[in-house]
Amino acid sequence: MESDSKSLVDELTLEETIELIHGSLDPDGKATGYVPGNERVGIPPLTMVDGPLGVRALGEQATAFPSSIALAASWNPDLARRFGTALGREAAAYGQDVVLGPGVNIIRTPNGGRNFEYYSEDPRLTARMGVGTIEGIQSADVAAMVKHYVANNQETNRYEVSAEVSERTLREIYLPAFRAAVEEADVLSVMTAYNRVNGVHMSDHERLLSDVLKGEWGFDGPVVSDWWGTRSTVDAALAGLDIEMPGVELEAYLPDEASDIDEGDAPDDEGGELPPVPDVSAYFGEPLREAVEAGEVDESILDEKIERLLTLLESVGRFDDDARDGELDTPEHRRLARDIAVEGTVMLTNDGALPLDDSDSIALIGPNADAAKLGGGGSSEVTPVTETSPREGLAERAADLTFERGVPPIAESSFFDDGDEQRDDSADASIDDAVAAAEAADCAVIVAQDDATEFKDRDDIELPGEQNDLVSAVADAAERTVVVLRTSGPVEMPWLEDVDAVLETWYPGQADGEALATVLFGDADPSGRLPVTFGRAAADYPTADEAAFPGVDDAVRYDEGVFVGYRYFDDRDVEPLFPFGHGLSYTTFEYDDVTVSETTDGFEVAVDLRNVGDRTGTEVVQVYARRSAAPVACPDRELVGFETVSLEAGAETTVTISLERDDFAYYDESDGWTVAEGTNTVLVGRSSRDVRATFDVDV
Ligand code: BGC
Repeated sequence: MESDSKSLVDELTLEETIELIHGSLDPDGKATGYVPGNERVGIPPLTMVDGPLGVRALGEQATAFPSSIALAASWNPDLARRFGTALGREAAAYGQDVVLGPGVNIIRTPNGGRNFEYYSEDPRLTARMGVGTIEGIQSADVAAMVKHYVANNQETNRYEVSAEVSERTLREIYLPAFRAAVEEADVLSVMTAYNRVNGVHMSDHERLLSDVLKGEWGFDGPVVSDWWGTRSTVDAALAGLDIEMPGVELEAYLPDEASDIDEGDAPDDEGGELPPVPDVSAYFGEPLREAVEAGEVDESILDEKIERLLTLLESVGRFDDDARDGELDTPEHRRLARDIAVEGTVMLTNDGALPLDDSDSIALIGPNADAAKLGGGGSSEVTPVTETSPREGLAERAADLTFERGVPPIAESSFFDDGDEQRDDSADASIDDAVAAAEAADCAVIVAQDDATEFKDRDDIELPGEQNDLVSAVADAAERTVVVLRTSGPVEMPWLEDVDAVLETWYPGQADGEALATVLFGDADPSGRLPVTFGRAAADYPTADEAAFPGVDDAVRYDEGVFVGYRYFDDRDVEPLFPFGHGLSYTTFEYDDVTVSETTDGFEVAVDLRNVGDRTGTEVVQVYARRSAAPVACPDRELVGFETVSLEAGAETTVTISLERDDFAYYDESDGWTVAEGTNTVLVGRSSRDVRATFDVDV
């Protein structure tokens, strides 16, 4: 292909070249992004579709999978691979070449509006889930576009805000998942973030695009701007941005019912000016041609951009004659959507209320429990063919079910809601009725939720509306109370001591109710573990201060450095509500024998694990490292490995997890990655705070 691509590039006129480095309108009207190709020289068009919770082909339906944070809660990269494969095949079924995802930004603040689209507060877990998803997508001959590179950790003021972040923090926390996407998963395309990093817009960031991503990591595909996220012509072209997207006016490209989303609607809580949404290919169209003619950008720079586009087209088989296989909403995909929802469900507490008995009468209570919680608002919204609400799911499984809303429905943000589906929020919501239903049943199951969306961060981490009052009133009256949270991340739980069990199901997607019934009745073990720390209050996180989030004068200070998520809670000795890695099982695992032995390039941790309960269950063995020998301040513990295993009742196995010397490295601002030589510590356990064995190791 190299020589072919060279000749294709040579054949293109400057006008034609320019046409290929910005988007235009998809003649089929399905794609989220479209690069036209060139018929004369034989370059096919490239189609891109959102991502990452399912395929959002405009006006079409697809399997609505659980949110990324739910997938990450499975701690199961193989599941991510299966998900990615299904996602890729659904994209292929709509003739799409690229999935705009996964999003591998780190969950830095619990308020983040898009946290549900991301995996975790931990770079290692994020990288493993990202690599699995990307490998899956690309196994279907569809490209993944990993996003949003980099430090896109909030929605407030997202076009302007500058993440003021140290090099060490970038390297240790925010970059590793992107690096793994490139070096391990061979991701075929990368999307830049809207925000600035240390003052420079990411679409203009020569050091992070050209030096780090393309230079150090050897990325050879195209770097694509987020939609209307290109901010300059010459700077961006020279910095390493390859394609400006979408090259189309907002109105021309969103469905009619979504036309009320324009820059005026974009939340702008801080009162800052939003940049004007450019008309059409404002930077890489005509202005780029003029810049080339004026000698400000060498044509060879454009040729390289075309070569990267050709590499992508070739990798997804667009120069081959064979049609790519795709499939949509198959029974397997529906089952997979359910399995991810089940495996991602985290049982936070359980004093024996769960699993429910087959004969239990259930009072299902919740303002929105008669609808599946598909996802949050924004570009990741998917329209499924089928969906199951908690009410439907439990009706299938429970012997006796009543339903009360309790309080008015919680509003759900959407980019695409045309208003037709508004639930009636008036007459049938009363806490008294919910209490009466709870009193009459063996068990009250309350489904509560938050509302998260692209464009806007959560104002706080409280359950919205009157849901806390509802939970407290029901818990007072019911014999047993189970709370099911459908949230984008942590919420405060003022009623925690009064309820008998709490499940976190995140945004579970189309199989919501089916998965919930499966877990509640114990047909499957809720095998999820928290991919984020649940603090007691937003004030407990490093982003509680305005300068740290959402920022002051267009700058947000990442002064907590590498101490993000549990690293911060550990460092400050703050007791979380539930720690990173936490999650209960219906069975009990014993860590019989834990050893660490030296290998040629590191260490091997071996755990003799036994399921001593009376049912099949899943355990996630977690290994953390403390780089005690490092000369710089390091987190008390950092995830360096994990293994997820299912065992039948009474079964035992030996779980082995390999560590490399590099797992004990820190980033030194002058010397780069440096192994902390000397005595370090390895901690093995079932969460970041439930440690079963600790070892000193000589590195
Ligand atoms: C989002 C991207 C998305 C793109 C296309 C942007 O608003 O930030 O994640 O892929 O729109 O819909």
